[in-house]
Amino acid sequence: MTDRKVALVTGGSRGIGRAVSVELARSGYAVLINFRTNFDEAERARHTIQEAGGTAEICQADVAAPSHRDLLIDFTMQTYGRIDLLVNNAGIGPQRRTDILETDLDTYNHILATNLTGPYFLAQKAAKVMIALLADKRIEAPAIINVSSIRAYTAAGNYGEYCISKAGLSMVTKLLAVRLAQYGINVYEIRPGVIDTDMTARPDVRAYYDERLDKGMTPINRWGRPEEVARAVAVVARGDLPFSTGEVINVDGGWHLRWL
Ligand code: NAI
Repeated sequence: MTDRKVALVTGGSRGIGRAVSVELARSGYAVLINFRTNFDEAERARHTIQEAGGTAEICQADVAAPSHRDLLIDFTMQTYGRIDLLVNNAGIGPQRRTDILETDLDTYNHILATNLTGPYFLAQKAAKVMIALLADKRIEAPAIINVSSIRAYTAAGNYGEYCISKAGLSMVTKLLAVRLAQYGINVYEIRPGVIDTDMTARPDVRAYYDERLDKGMTPINRWGRPEEVARAVAVVARGDLPFSTGEVINVDGGWHLRWL
């Protein structure tokens, strides 16, 4: 078993997940970088961390698949012997934005399986492992973080599956926070705004938000960076919020504020 705290980061090879993996490694965590398809990208992330003196391993798994979730937790335990932090970061939007009156069931199920069912059951499994590790006094103050979105409460009529999945993930955070507090496991939701990653790189998406930002969309009126989300994760990872659970941490340039 490693002496370092251990973090499992889903979708950890690129975008926000990559920044989170790098930041956690810098904070002293041994990181398990989960990736779905792109082995080279995951290898590069591991390399970056190891070059900087950190500890990282990679594991291919689709969080939407039950057997893969089991594998992910089992692999983390076999590799490091402990889990102190689960960061449910992996997430997808639909390939094509469709009016909610035309949403097809396959797309709906796929988005929910990845963004909601996956994180829920992964957290369930991780929590059971954490509870056992706590009982054996092998870890202290573990935590779970769910990366949701401003879409958890901001409706988009052509992006409904995604909004529903993230709203559901908010409730998962609350449920787990209430259930797991008795063991000393805190649960947090990090709610990013518009962040510059592959997810938002499509020219039409980029143009849409650029136009909104030109009109003063947010008080801090610019794109967010993956590293800025990672810094919020690091606050939780350091254990700096010990009397807060179920908390939403907005990393959104102030989008959630109402102002006149
Ligand atoms: P991204 O598309 O750059 O990265 C997502 C990562 O998740 C990729 O590595 C992808 O392979 C992985 N992934 C997707 N499905 C997976 C699965 N079934 N199993 C395992 N891994 C899977 O996106 P980004 O922007 O880094 O997003 C990370 C999280 O942040 C997502 O949950 C997203 O919904 C959320 N978010 C992103 C925002 C943005 O503006 N970029 C805004 C708000 C939330």
